[in-house]
Amino acid sequence: MTVAVLVLAAGRGERLGAPVPKAFAPLAGVPLVVRSLAAMARVREVDRVVPVVALADRDRFAALAPGLAGIPKLTAPVWGGAERQDSMQAGLASLGPDVDLVAVHDAARPFVRARDVARVLAAARDVGAALLAVPVTDTIKRVRAGRVVETPERSECWAAQTPQAFRAEVLREALARAAAEGFQATDDVRLVERLGLPVAVVEGDPGNVKITRSEDLTAAHARLLDLRACDEAVR
Ligand code: CTP
Ligand code: MG
Repeated sequence: MTVAVLVLAAGRGERLGAPVPKAFAPLAGVPLVVRSLAAMARVREVDRVVPVVALADRDRFAALAPGLAGIPKLTAPVWGGAERQDSMQAGLASLGPDVDLVAVHDAARPFVRARDVARVLAAARDVGAALLAVPVTDTIKRVRAGRVVETPERSECWAAQTPQAFRAEVLREALARAAAEGFQATDDVRLVERLGLPVAVVEGDPGNVKITRSEDLTAAHARLLDLRACDEAVR
């Protein structure tokens, strides 16, 4: 069983508004993409870690070489596309027929835990597709034009995270169908759902946050300092 992880880092990071594209924004001095690649390489079940980067960031990525040198399992970067799904497609197209399982991860989620990656991979192997998700704590309202349309049952609402994992042939088929039908999603398993195929939900960690806005980066920094203080306290 050969397992590859695509780490999507080709976005612009408009909402973060940093001077560099989001994946290159440093968190305590280490760019998010380096943290996410390293987190994936630490997972025992993972054989290959594929960075998907914008061609416009080619030099920026090359400049990370010293920091990437110690990370095992890394392949050369693959150039992403205009939309997240295009980047995912480019990453998938780079994989050989030997790859059985594919996970797709946002470079913007640097805190993912190895044991959760292993669990979502195992579920995808069994079911065909799987994602990490956490139950929502807020009540969710569906809203259109400033009016509540519906209140879904809270116990049935989960917030989707990455990685999302697939048997390679399931993801290839779902992506081909989406491309043929002009369907775009920001969530990879959505492409499988729409074919009526099963997607397993694996309860993840609320700490596996996506860095989206500048306050997320501030909170992530505070959390890292806390984690370090804890480490030192128990040492
Ligand atoms: N991504 C990508 N290719 C794109 C768009 C997004 O690889 N064309 C990646 C981002 O780099 C990020 C992940 O997908 O790691 C999740 O997307 P998002 O949080 O939306 O990041 P950005 O698109 O960079 O941010 P924004 O939407 O604020 O511009
Ligand atoms: Mg985006």
